[in-house]
Amino acid sequence: MKVFVTRKIPEEGLKILEKECDEVQVFPHDRIPKKKEIIEGIKGKDGLLCLLTDPIDKEVISSGDRLKAISIYAAGYDNVDVKEATRRGIIVSNTPDVLTDATAELAWALLFAVARRVVEGDRFTRSGKFRGWSPLLMLGKRISGSTLGIIGAGRIGTAFALKSKGLNMKVLYYNRSKNEVLEKELGARKVSLEDLLKQSDFISIHLPLTPETHHLIGEKELSMVKKGAVIINTARGAIIDEKALAKALKEKRIFGAGLDVYENEPEVNEELKKLDNVVLLPHIGSATFETRVKMAILAAENLVASLKGKKPKYCVNPEVFDKLRG
Ligand code: DGY
Repeated sequence: MKVFVTRKIPEEGLKILEKECDEVQVFPHDRIPKKKEIIEGIKGKDGLLCLLTDPIDKEVISSGDRLKAISIYAAGYDNVDVKEATRRGIIVSNTPDVLTDATAELAWALLFAVARRVVEGDRFTRSGKFRGWSPLLMLGKRISGSTLGIIGAGRIGTAFALKSKGLNMKVLYYNRSKNEVLEKELGARKVSLEDLLKQSDFISIHLPLTPETHHLIGEKELSMVKKGAVIINTARGAIIDEKALAKALKEKRIFGAGLDVYENEPEVNEELKKLDNVVLLPHIGSATFETRVKMAILAAENLVASLKGKKPKYCVNPEVFDKLRG
């Protein structure tokens, strides 16, 4: 078994690969590999362990002359052409669950930071503008008792909503199916996207990026958002139309936004960068020491299992595996 890893991941994961595989080639640079470097790397390899930054499209997949498995070091897999992999009988796996709490926590960090102007306040204080306590200085938004709207109530959306316990919030959610846990634990209500946008004080996005969710929140949707609301996105940048969001923020139709993800990462919209009412993070939803180690172990185990013909713990295209097993 020969594998290519597109970036150095925590040792715990690499050790598993080194123990189980005949050859482990790790991309040696601390940067996103170019497509041609990935194509070069997977030549003669049975397995690929990639990151969410790597474009694993049809061209890359078809260049893998021996490729049998792709393991993604992420929960989201929108960067991989799963359809093409499936067509070629390549097993694709990912690392959900282990990053649920870390990502939900970061969404809360953004929510608090935007509502109470934490980053803006820090900049203000450092720049020497703080001249003493003042009744109207840096007023923000009340969180406790307000309405929280969750777009996408899967693993992360559910964990995020459950962490509102103690803040006495009214919780609304927009999701394909009913979420019994949220309804039972929080008295949450499943609503239409329009109702959620119109009624929520805080909106947090927790959906995968698919053709259906691309620009789900565009100009029309932003015009429906309750005046003075806050939008948080820790899912995928392209779910929001960034240009339309920058306009809504600039016109102060919404109070603020907290973003961990962008439409064209690592590029960040220039208009957003100019605004004080948006907090911008460098896609660090899963970035805790513990989580990144767990992701590395899981991604390595998924890859090894797939290459051994076993079903990986988290398989994105189980139909391939089922077909292989006959
Ligand atoms: C994921 O795994 O999809 C996250 O975006 C990583 O932070």
